[in-house]
Amino acid sequence: MRMTFLLNGETVVADATPTTTLLDWLREDRGLCGTKEGCNEGDCGACTVMVTDAGGARALNACILLLPQLAGKAVRTVEGVAGPDGGLHPAQQAMVDHHGSQCGFCTPGFVVTMAVAHLNGRRDHDDQLAGNLCRCTGYAPIIRAAQAAEAAPVPDWMQDAPTDSAPEGVAAPESADALAKWYLANPDATLVAGATDVGLWVTKQFRDLPKLAFLNRCADLRGIEVGAEEIRIGAMTPMTEVGAALAGIHPSYAELIRRYGSVQVRNAATIGGNIANGSPIGDNPPALIALGATLHLRRGDARRAMPVEAFFLDYGRQDRQPGEFVEAVTLPRNAPALRCYKISKRFDQDISAVCGAFNITVNVGKVKAARIAFGGMAGTPKRAAAAEAALLGRDWTSATVAAACAAMTDDFTPLSDMRASAGYRMEVAQGLLQRYFADLAGAPVSVLEVRA
Ligand SMILES: Cc1cc2nc3c(=O)[nH]c(=O)nc-3n(C[C@H](O)[C@H](O)[C@H](O)COP(=O)(O)OP(=O)(O)OC[C@H]3O[C@@H](n4cnc5c(N)ncnc54)[C@H](O)[C@@H]3O)c2cc1C
Ligand code: FES
Ligand code: FES
Repeated sequence: MRMTFLLNGETVVADATPTTTLLDWLREDRGLCGTKEGCNEGDCGACTVMVTDAGGARALNACILLLPQLAGKAVRTVEGVAGPDGGLHPAQQAMVDHHGSQCGFCTPGFVVTMAVAHLNGRRDHDDQLAGNLCRCTGYAPIIRAAQAAEAAPVPDWMQDAPTDSAPEGVAAPESADALAKWYLANPDATLVAGATDVGLWVTKQFRDLPKLAFLNRCADLRGIEVGAEEIRIGAMTPMTEVGAALAGIHPSYAELIRRYGSVQVRNAATIGGNIANGSPIGDNPPALIALGATLHLRRGDARRAMPVEAFFLDYGRQDRQPGEFVEAVTLPRNAPALRCYKISKRFDQDISAVCGAFNITVNVGKVKAARIAFGGMAGTPKRAAAAEAALLGRDWTSATVAAACAAMTDDFTPLSDMRASAGYRMEVAQGLLQRYFADLAGAPVSVLEVRA
């Protein structure tokens, strides 16, 4: 595979296998060792780089970016964040002034994330930096540094102007039509969307992926159409864009997305990948199932649609044929009672132990419709059918909710794993329904709303 892109302002050509990560290439082929390897799985942010394309500048984790995803884009590493004359970027100067670095291992990653946030005018530093871990300095000086840099102008050298070009020697279709044709002829291929799963197959599982198709050039698979009744989200839309679009429409779902991985992960991970991977602990499926969303699949010219919950057949098994791919998901625009709750060991940058989504319609005190879906409670994302049945037609009272909680033991036999025990999961799921009841009654239910 051969591809051209901009690296720290200069045009470069990379000639490597399609599964080479940007991090390995930078360090081993270019000797650019400022970009650090910490976890090599997207969790620590030590490898953060800035990537600019037609959609603007984003922070991404180089350790789980495969080179072909970068063809025609501009990459800026920590070496390119300082000026061509060696002058410091405002974020670098602020880190010095505010003592934001001790051992320094995490510092290049922090500086790049801060520089991208600075360029994009972001001041929500806690969120922007949640994907960068520091063991020794502590976050207060780093946040102070980010605040101190806010007002400084963006240095000229940070404005990259990439020229689009395709990678050679690897499948990178330019449209959904081209992908449909290619995938029908190559049904054994692995599709690569944001690579936040696939990247780990390479870096952690050392899997051979002999035939790949990179979907990031299919512009018509990306984007969000907000209609009067319905919202259509293209499979290749990254979670950052999904979260931004839903903020004013489904605020609870958007808040769930704010806690999905980190900025770097959300900038890469797509909604299509998060559904297609069939994970029982993905955060989108419970919300989409509670909303009654529809999944749109395509195989060649044939298209079919199904409720999102019908896609998940069993652990590791989805209703997807060879050569078939996820094209989009559609969801209703109006769902004022939707609430999504994520329970994980850490507040930020963690996978859910349990994720519950609730969408219950109450009319004159009686439950008219109920959709409850959980991740982390079974081998697939799954509706709580018995709990829903215990609610339907009943008075919306704490006694009815208690009965629905009891019915939930018929819905799920959760597993114990490193994230949570079976007993904990069941108690949490029941507790989340009670939380929903309190939430609709206007009580503060998030730890962020509680003050001592
Ligand atoms: C550090 C880290 C933190 C994370 N945190 C969270 C979290 O908080 N919540 C959460 O839910 N997930 C989390 N994840 C998991 C991950 O982000 C998601 O599963 C992700 O959405 C996968 O999407 P992707 O675009 O990166 O897919 P990829 O890795 O590119 O692909 C994933 C799978 O889906 C297939 N695929 C992709 N697109 C399509 C398509 N259009 N049609 C058919 N098949 C397709 C691929 O072939 C592959 O099998 C995290 C991952 C990392 C590394
Ligand atoms: S090395 Fe930890 S996120 Fe890349
Ligand atoms: S300064 Fe040592 S890990 Fe952050």
